[in-house]
This record gives sequence, C-alpha cells and structure tokens, in this order.
Amino acid sequence: MTPPSDAARIAHEHRLGRIHHVALVVRDLEGALGFYRDILGLPVELVQAIPEDRVTIAFLPVDDTKIELVQPTDDMTGVARFLASKGEGFHHICFEVPHLADTLTRLAIDGVELIDSVPRKGAEGPVAFLHPRSCRGVLVELIEAPGGPSWGALGY
Ligand code: CO
Repeated sequence: MTPPSDAARIAHEHRLGRIHHVALVVRDLEGALGFYRDILGLPVELVQAIPEDRVTIAFLPVDDTKIELVQPTDDMTGVARFLASKGEGFHHICFEVPHLADTLTRLAIDGVELIDSVPRKGAEGPVAFLHPRSCRGVLVELIEAPGGPSWGALGY
C-alpha cells in the first residue's frame, strides 16, 4: 500500500492548473457558432484554419477557460473519424500544468499511456495528449502554462 506521504507527494507533483479549454467537435463551424455565439452569447476570440491539422477551430472564452470548437476539414484525420463515428459533441478536456515534460514523465511512471511522450508545439503553447484508455474513456490534453520550460525549447 502507498504510504500517505507518497500519495501527498504524487498529488503535489501531478497537480493540474485550471481547465485551459474544453474541445467540442462540430460538423460545421458556422452552424455551431449560430448556437454558441448567437444563442448562448459567448464571445468569439479566434477563428483559425490549421491546415497542418486539417481542422478549423474557434475559441470562445468563458471566464478563465474556453470552449474550443473543432471542425475537421477532411475525412482522414482522427478527429474526422471521431465525428463520423460518434457525432458532434465532447472531444477532449485540456488542463494547464506548470512543467509539461516533468508531468509526462511522472504520468508514464504511474502507468498512464501517453499519446505524446514529449511536449509538442500546439497553437497556444506546448501540448501533449494522454490516451483515453488510461483516462476513463476521456481524451485528455495537457498544456504548459506560459513561461514554462518547454516554451523556449519549442521555439515559441
Ligand atoms: Co485542445
């Protein structure tokens, strides 16, 4: 059995910051904005095509987090297959962490299956995904807080 002191240490080392964003996959971004922007009244911070990921995204801030709408722009990507099989809705949750590489190392030691074993360059900072198999069926993204060590290493 893990002694309480170890559990406390692990909890501290694995601590997550705020929820950075919640990502929802949509079939048609303009149509989705007709709900999230026009009916719910959320502001739109950004709409951006990301050709390398073959998606168009929008960020809609809510307090200190945001909703990310993701529309696949071709049928071959993981997110496009997700949309085809599950339909529109929840796709992933993203937590902010202070030191992404350390967090990934510690999660791997604890047996969590990593999709990205090292931080990679995301649109808003260094990111890595954890496999839903290890996360109770939820795709989890981690993003390093601004000023963390991976920012310089990835050339932001
Ligand atoms: Co995301």
